[in-house]
Amino acid sequence: MAATGPGKPRILVTRKMMPDVERRIAALFDATLNPDDRQMGRDEILDKAAHHDGLLLTSFDKLGPEFIPALASSIRIIATHSVGHDHLSIPQAEARGIAVTNTPGVLTNATADISLLLILGSARGASWGDRMVRENRWGETTLLTPMGHDVTGRRLGILGMGRIGQAVAARARAFGMAIHYHSRRPVAAEDAQGAVYHARFEDLLPKCDFLSINCASTPETRGMVNAAALALLPFGAIVVNTARGDIVDDGALIAALASGHLAAAGLDVFKGEPSIDPRYRALDNVFMLPHIGSATPATRSAMGHKCIDNLVQFFSGERPTDLLTAK
Ligand code: DGY
Repeated sequence: MAATGPGKPRILVTRKMMPDVERRIAALFDATLNPDDRQMGRDEILDKAAHHDGLLLTSFDKLGPEFIPALASSIRIIATHSVGHDHLSIPQAEARGIAVTNTPGVLTNATADISLLLILGSARGASWGDRMVRENRWGETTLLTPMGHDVTGRRLGILGMGRIGQAVAARARAFGMAIHYHSRRPVAAEDAQGAVYHARFEDLLPKCDFLSINCASTPETRGMVNAAALALLPFGAIVVNTARGDIVDDGALIAALASGHLAAAGLDVFKGEPSIDPRYRALDNVFMLPHIGSATPATRSAMGHKCIDNLVQFFSGERPTDLLTAK
C-alpha cells in the first residue's frame, strides 16, 4: 500500500472514532472523517462514497437493502466497525466485487460483561431500584417488597455459543449457573466446558431459568424468539439480549412480560433502534440499555484498529484477516 503521498487509498469514515483510531486513519489513508459525528443518511453516504475507494462504517448507520447496489464503482472495500454485519448483504457485496470485513474477537469480553449486567440487573431490579432511589421512594421498601429473583445456582440457556456466548457462559459459571445452549452445531468440548447442547431450540427453552441471546441476526434467527418459543420457557423465566433486536418478536415478549409468564427482561438491543417499541417503557420489569455492548474506550479503540488493519491488508494486496466475502 502506498503509505504516503497522492497514491493513498481514499477512505470515507461515517462516524467519529476514538482519537487514536482517527490519528492512524489520517496517517495511513486519504481519509474523510466526520469530526462533528453527524449521523448521515443512506443517500449522503452514497454521495460521499463516490469519491472514495473504501468505507469504514458502523452498524449504527442506516443503510437498507438498496445501499450496496447503489454504491459507486470506486468502492472496493467496506470495513464495518462491528462484529455483526446484518446491516450489510454479503451476497450483494460479492456480486459487486466489494470486500467486506468486520471486527470479531475484540468486543467479546465487553459484550459478555453487558450480558451479565442484564442478567443481574433484570433479575435483581436494577432499573426499578434505581428509579425508587432517584424518585425518593426508598421509604416504600418493606421486607416483602420490592423483591428480585435469584441468579446464583440457576440454569442459563444460551442461544448462540460463539465467542460471546462462551464468554457469557464463563462468567455465569462464577455464579454457579448450569449452562445449556443451542447453536447450529455443538462446540468443541474444550469450548463447551460441560455446557449441555440442545440440537433443537425447542428443547433448550424448557431448561432456561434465563435465556441469553448471543447469536447473529440472520434470516434463520430473525424472529426466532417468538410467542411459541417464549411459551416453552418455564414460568418466571428471564430473557436477556445483547445480540440484535430483530431476533425477538417484540409483541410476543411484551405480552409475556405483561402477563407475568416472564419475570423480567434485560435488553441492550432493539428492533428499529434507537426508536423502540414504546410499550417497553411502561414495563417495570424490563431493564434497558442503549446498545452499549462494545462501549468502552479500549474496546471501541480495538475495533477501530481492527478495521484499519483489515483496510491496510486489503490495499496491500493481502487477504484481510476478517474478510467476510469470498474475496
Ligand atoms: C457489534 O459489533 O455488532 C455491536 O453490536 C455493535 O454494533
